Amino acid sequence: MAENLIIEGSTKEEKYANLFPQIKSVLSAERDMIANMANVCSMLHETFNFFWTGFYRVIDGELVLSPFQGPLACTRIKKGRGVCGTAWQEEKTLIVPDVDKFDGHIACSSLSKSEIVVPVFRNKEIFAVLDIDSKELNTFDDTDKQWLEKIVALFDIE
Ligand code: SME
Repeated sequence: MAENLIIEGSTKEEKYANLFPQIKSVLSAERDMIANMANVCSMLHETFNFFWTGFYRVIDGELVLSPFQGPLACTRIKKGRGVCGTAWQEEKTLIVPDVDKFDGHIACSSLSKSEIVVPVFRNKEIFAVLDIDSKELNTFDDTDKQWLEKIVALFDIE
């Protein structure tokens, strides 16, 4: 594995297309979920220079902060609360172009302007969500949704 992750590509699509096989290779070499979540955050964060990239895992009926890259974040989120808790409840990816317009958005940082949350399934159950925040409005679209869903599907093993 490359020590310095350099993802070529000028478009978002190209970056994801180049990044995906690398993520797949890194995950296939390790079984520990926390280690794998940590590397996925790092690779996404470094490639796209996001503001915050991290996982929350479902533990005892709440989302609990897990591996992430970026500033300090809130540690626990209840089902149905914020973008993360809503994506968990609705069992689908949520794209929020402007967080100020999302009722109930949990502002871990006032610098975050747009967000995407992708549920992570294992055996048809959500066991985590991937949350990515951007300092710009309208950062995330269907390309992010498609690729991020493909990336988190790599956790659906056994
Ligand atoms: N904004 C999220 C909370 C998590 S932080 O962005 C890291 C939400 O509304 O669920």
